[in-house]
Amino acid sequence: MRITVIGAGTMGSGIAQLVATAGHDTSLVDVGEEQLRRGRASIEESLRRFVAKGAVAESDAEDILERVLTGTSVAASVADADIVIESVIEVLEVKRAVFVEAARYAPADALLATNTSQLSITAIGAAIPVAASRLVGLHFFNPPVLMRLIEVVAGLESSEEVIERALEFGASLGKETVLCRKDSPGFLTSRISALVRLECLRMLEEGVASAEDIDKALKVGFNWPMGPLELGDFNGLDTYLHILESLERTLGDRFKPTVTLRNLVSAGRLGRKTGHGIYTYPES
Ligand SMILES: NC(=O)c1ccc[n+]([C@@H]2O[C@H](COP(=O)([O-])OP(=O)(O)OC[C@H]3O[C@@H](n4cnc5c(N)ncnc54)[C@H](O)[C@@H]3O)[C@@H](O)[C@H]2O)c1
Repeated sequence: MRITVIGAGTMGSGIAQLVATAGHDTSLVDVGEEQLRRGRASIEESLRRFVAKGAVAESDAEDILERVLTGTSVAASVADADIVIESVIEVLEVKRAVFVEAARYAPADALLATNTSQLSITAIGAAIPVAASRLVGLHFFNPPVLMRLIEVVAGLESSEEVIERALEFGASLGKETVLCRKDSPGFLTSRISALVRLECLRMLEEGVASAEDIDKALKVGFNWPMGPLELGDFNGLDTYLHILESLERTLGDRFKPTVTLRNLVSAGRLGRKTGHGIYTYPES
């Protein structure tokens, strides 16, 4: 299949790597060459680690990378796509604009999917009334190549056929799937994850414990593979702030971001990607 991934950031580059590894011809799109260079570099780095561990043969890694073409034009890269996966920043208007263009130039039977963490699929689809039945949420987890789950989210207008195609596509990538049948803010996963992580940020802000001990408590006591604060840094604190602001608007005060989180983002301390977030990453 031909798959176009729009947005070459933390998630888009990982999704492109995942679908190229599954053998699909992949187009990765972003607004500029610098973003595409970074997206490609992160795929290369990830493949290098798989090769070093013996999980992927060197020649396969080269083939995977060759299957990923990059470009800055949505119109050109969706022209022959079977599936379009949008993974741009978590801002409704930006996503809607991307889908207006994608729906205009993609084939009339292409599956349109958004990797939004919590925005309404129905609200995104309202920007493309003629194609809204072909739009679903396809919510990957970070990093997409390793995480086992894909959450499929049905918008009000999503057709049963498209929901079925999305579930089958997720399974074909070797993932488990869950279906969020009712399009509601935060779906099944982001809603619960945001609350736990926010409570950890509140404890940090109140001085209840150090970041290290809050993370250790969740990892050792509750078997989280990564502490919630580490996870915030890993996923990007700016993305997390967008998610909380949006959930606060739809679900109320219990999702209100902390002052510390706002300060970190204002200071450009976005987590691993900037070398500094709740923790510091000298290697970045
Ligand atoms: N980070 C995570 O852990 C995570 C997990 C699941 C889902 N998501 C969702 O995935 C999406 C992307 O998140 P991310 O963490 O990769 O963000 P990111 O900031 O790392 O990357 C976003 C990319 O989108 C690009 N972009 C912005 N506007 C664009 C446009 N009009 N056309 C093409 N590219 C454009 C940016 O240049 C950037 O490279 C968001 O909707 C987010 O909620 C994120």
